[in-house]
Amino acid sequence: MTFPYTLPRLPYPTAALEPNLNRATIMTHHDKIFAGHVDALNRALQPYPILQQQPLTQLLLHPDRLPIPIREDVLEHGGAVYNHTLYFPSLAPARSTRPGTALTGAIDRCFGSMEDFLRALGRLSLSDQREGYTWLLSDRCGRLRLLFTPGQATALPLSPLFCLDLYRHAYALTYGDDRKAYVEAALPLINWDALSRRYRAVFTGQPPFPNP
Ligand SMILES: [Fe+2]
Repeated sequence: MTFPYTLPRLPYPTAALEPNLNRATIMTHHDKIFAGHVDALNRALQPYPILQQQPLTQLLLHPDRLPIPIREDVLEHGGAVYNHTLYFPSLAPARSTRPGTALTGAIDRCFGSMEDFLRALGRLSLSDQREGYTWLLSDRCGRLRLLFTPGQATALPLSPLFCLDLYRHAYALTYGDDRKAYVEAALPLINWDALSRRYRAVFTGQPPFPNP
């Protein structure tokens, strides 16, 4: 991912996640909010040809190298581009996918069982009322952990398998202010095919993202 950044195509029709997330929610989130961050990141980098050649992950990993006038914008909008690029393909129509054997084994080892993992993910997503993301991360040995990050911070340099957007804009048009209803409805939408693919990539020496 480098300049000029473009809006990734939504990997399913806008109504594919209904009733868990309605069409208006996905359309607004992807076509307006995500697109707005892409445009704002391109605007910030427009006057800086040297920065345009660097991958987004490098810009985000080294904020001290960003010129002060655009530092805040690149972290905010660049973080949002990175996070949303992972978020949308992390979802799929409810219960349409299943985790692969390796990922299932890792979840059992690290969390006890799939049920325990989903409970922990749900609990963490409701434990902090700030807007941000809940992440499922893997280290290079395949050990899994959960993490909450506030705002548009990323989990870099850790390898993300999944992120759940906890901004109000991710669910307000379906659930109003009810974050709990959103989190419960989002768990059956986890795209286990994508997560399993990213998990396998951890062992190839290639970072699984931003090439999900
Ligand atoms: Fe979002």
